[in-house]
Amino acid sequence: MYSQTADRIHIQEVGMRDGLQSAGHFVETEDKVRLLNALSKAGLSKIEVTSFVSPKAVPLLADAEAVLNAIDRQPGVAYSALIPNARGLDRALSVELDEVNVVMSVSEAHNMANLRMTCEDSIAQFHEICANRGALKVNGTLATAFGCPFTGYVPEFMVLDWAKRYIDVGIDSLTLADTVGTATPLQVLDLCRAVVEGFPDVEITLHLHNTRGLGIANALSGIAAGIRHLDASVGGIGGCPYAPGATGNVCTEDLVHALIFDGYRCEVDLEQLLSVSHELGALLSNPLPGLVRYAGSKLTTHPMSDDLQCRMGLVKSD
Ligand code: COA
Ligand code: ZN
Repeated sequence: MYSQTADRIHIQEVGMRDGLQSAGHFVETEDKVRLLNALSKAGLSKIEVTSFVSPKAVPLLADAEAVLNAIDRQPGVAYSALIPNARGLDRALSVELDEVNVVMSVSEAHNMANLRMTCEDSIAQFHEICANRGALKVNGTLATAFGCPFTGYVPEFMVLDWAKRYIDVGIDSLTLADTVGTATPLQVLDLCRAVVEGFPDVEITLHLHNTRGLGIANALSGIAAGIRHLDASVGGIGGCPYAPGATGNVCTEDLVHALIFDGYRCEVDLEQLLSVSHELGALLSNPLPGLVRYAGSKLTTHPMSDDLQCRMGLVKSD
């Protein structure tokens, strides 16, 4: 099912937004800046730095402007921030930024829970945002594209319809988000193929959560369907605070580890990511879900005990 490709797979870091928005406690601005500066040197194509949402809705990212005003930017990395409405655009235009990521859900119930508005109200905001974006690129995220925590099944035609409406309002690129990790590999293959074939000129990102352990399998399915941009979160943190049962994104270092050792070209420095992951782990109270940070890469070996060396005939027993 999986097909190898010589194309670069672009890894886009979302942990500082998707992860820290639900981290359990406020991570200090200077710590966020230090982590972001280190992530900037890891070879990632894009970093979602924060979000410009209501600080009442997401207090843990209330320092969005301060973070964006303090980070060091690296050439080749696009810096993005999530916005839900026109007020978010005003804030985004007050800082240095390459892109805003507008978000709405395919599911009406999740849009109302998360953004307190109907899908139609969201798309109306996006018209206004695209008209007033200035030099900013606009990425459009379709949350709950693979399933809704309230209403369950999300039909493929609804995702295609909303993708078309997004593109018609003038977004530059599109993200399909599996907000609560309900996607399965063949579902990802089908939906991504349909979207890639339906909108061949649009850059499409897959944003996966590893809630049911299928994050990397789903990412590989997405690549097989033609996806070349994947969101991921360092340490595997993440989760929408307004989606019951949401847990972390697919872990950046685990995903990069899988891609590198399977021969994909992603141009990301695994060691640098692991170092950021360890630094992040020291700041958060819960253990991080990512696995390679604990196991090391697949090249990791362990010293043989004296007894084992003896039994292997590598040393003589006394
Ligand atoms: N940034 C900062 N403040 C904002 C804002 C923004 N983008 N949008 C609205 N606000 C403020 C308003 O100024 C108002 O403040 P006040 O109470 O001090 O007067 C308050 O938030 C309520 O504004 P309103 O327009 O009535 O919003 P709402 O209560 O209907 O909430 C959202 C709508 C979209 C602002 C809110 O639901 C939200 O921020 N959701 C984001 C959730 C999220 O980030 N989820 C995870 C990522 S997908
Ligand atoms: Zn997410």
